[in-house]
Amino acid sequence: MCGIVAYTGSREAYPILINGLKRLEYRGYDSAGVALMQNNNISLYKCRGKVADLEAFCEDKNVESHCGIAHTRWATHGEPNDQNAHPHLSIDGKLALIHNGIIENYLSLKKELMNKGYEFLSNTDTEVLVHLVQDIQKTENVDLIEAVQLAMSVVIGTYAVVILSSDHPQQLIVAKKGSPLLIGIGKNEFFIGSDGAPMVEFTNKVVYLEDEEVAVVHPDKKLEITNIKNERKKPFVERLELQLEQIEKGGFEHFMLKEIFEQPKAISDSMRGRINTKKDVVALGGIMEYENKMLKAGRYIIAACGTSWHAGLVGEHLFESLVRVPVEVEYASEFRYRNPIIKEDDVLIVISQSGETADTLAAIELAKSKGATVIGICNVVGSSIARNTHAGSYTHAGPEIGVASTKAFTAQVTVLFLMALSLARKKGEVSLSMYHHYISELEAIPAKIETILAKNDYIKQIAQEFINCQNAIYMGRGVNFPVALEGALKLKEISYIHAEGYPAAEMKHGPIALIDKEMPVVVIATEQETYDKVVSNVQEVKTRSGKIISIVSEGDEIVKSMSDFCIEIPKTDELLSPLVASVPLQLLAYYIAVARGCDVDKPRNLAKSVSVE
Ligand code: G6P
Repeated sequence: MCGIVAYTGSREAYPILINGLKRLEYRGYDSAGVALMQNNNISLYKCRGKVADLEAFCEDKNVESHCGIAHTRWATHGEPNDQNAHPHLSIDGKLALIHNGIIENYLSLKKELMNKGYEFLSNTDTEVLVHLVQDIQKTENVDLIEAVQLAMSVVIGTYAVVILSSDHPQQLIVAKKGSPLLIGIGKNEFFIGSDGAPMVEFTNKVVYLEDEEVAVVHPDKKLEITNIKNERKKPFVERLELQLEQIEKGGFEHFMLKEIFEQPKAISDSMRGRINTKKDVVALGGIMEYENKMLKAGRYIIAACGTSWHAGLVGEHLFESLVRVPVEVEYASEFRYRNPIIKEDDVLIVISQSGETADTLAAIELAKSKGATVIGICNVVGSSIARNTHAGSYTHAGPEIGVASTKAFTAQVTVLFLMALSLARKKGEVSLSMYHHYISELEAIPAKIETILAKNDYIKQIAQEFINCQNAIYMGRGVNFPVALEGALKLKEISYIHAEGYPAAEMKHGPIALIDKEMPVVVIATEQETYDKVVSNVQEVKTRSGKIISIVSEGDEIVKSMSDFCIEIPKTDELLSPLVASVPLQLLAYYIAVARGCDVDKPRNLAKSVSVE
């Protein structure tokens, strides 16, 4: 959500900024803009639409510059239009500012500034910041850095901001709270980004700015960091763990398809180094220190959003079946506001691909304030969630660019499985032979997914039959009910077809009224305890002329004979079946969306990293 790129140094800034914005497109946005320092003056270009529209808009403009800031905006306050796009300028045109986050007290600040005569050109909360900084500079008679420190002290909300000033033409001022921002260090040059993607080919030395820090970035000077109280901070330089090829499409038509195909590797990477060669120890290094607390937990609460919440629902089955400790799964957005009962022996497990989801971050703070232990499962190394939890395990799925999550989901389920299995073994809830069985089954999953991916063309053919449908129902049971929810979410997100997931037995309590010959019903009917029950549920749909697309275990005859289309997938232990059953559903959604001409990697209105609540 909102992408930030900035550069100062001796290279041409504009290509770096535009390329950087393109790499951040996956975050979701609806307008884009750039401000360039040219002969000690700021030139501003911004427009509604894609980065390509901004490029077209700038085609006949002079964009020569060595210092600039650029932004993709995901509208929160004010519609997506040219005026509301960032950067925003101060009244005298001497400051340009870009912002990711939300200024919660913007209305009262705006009122004060309007009373002082400041004119607002946009409906955004961001414009308040640029006027506020300038106003403080004037009224307090302080330099720009101090003005930024003071401004950020009166602001309530979240921000990652970069400011360009024509009084200091090579300098950028950067501040952050709650939204991610990192500074890449080159030789006499600096790169700034919401993540490492815009700078990956230039440097691997980065500083992740901490909350309430303000950095002064100048190509001829060392990086200077203070906090908003003007206390000096030592920059902590880290290695950027990102490769250029990880953020390129590598011959696939879309990132989403590439990421679906990367799942065997992503799952292997999630397991790598965590299972010893004798297969008798599962060790998640990141949670070692808190393992005792996890073993003594009276209850696990899993909080997450979107697809990660679905992984959490799978996790509930895994933890309850293996560890035998009660689990509650919560939408982070609801959990944070409903005054939940949290005890000190509760363990909150938060799951997040991006590691930046605002509601999940708030759930962490709430649980911490009540004395609970908080464990994270994140994909993005160094993300806010990874930093704010007591301990955690990375999923190591590699960067996920497609907005609709695929490989991150299966990697999350893999890590949840490893976590549950390791705790269960230590608690004596799983016998050694079962433990070995689970590990062997898990290790076989990547190869099993390869066989599903090999059915790509067949799934593409099935997809063609459903490109004009208006609605779809997904049914599953037990550990595959969350897979039904996830399958439906994938279809909604990228094809804009209305789809709902139901526990198969719930159909007769309402949804079955929707069944007619137009209604596709996707059913997960793999080998499982409730298989016979699912057969009856499929029969009930069939009797009402619904079109059945089934996901069954290899060799299945019963559901297959009742299905209009049937995708056979390899057998595995029931607890691991979500890892295989979700893959054909991802491909189905993908091919339906492509056939409908949808922008699968950047679906309308959605953002990859939801850093506002
Ligand atoms: C957004 C994304 C989803 C994601 C959800 C939670 O809505 O589009 O793909 O599942 O946020 O994000 P997280 O990064 O916390 O997993």
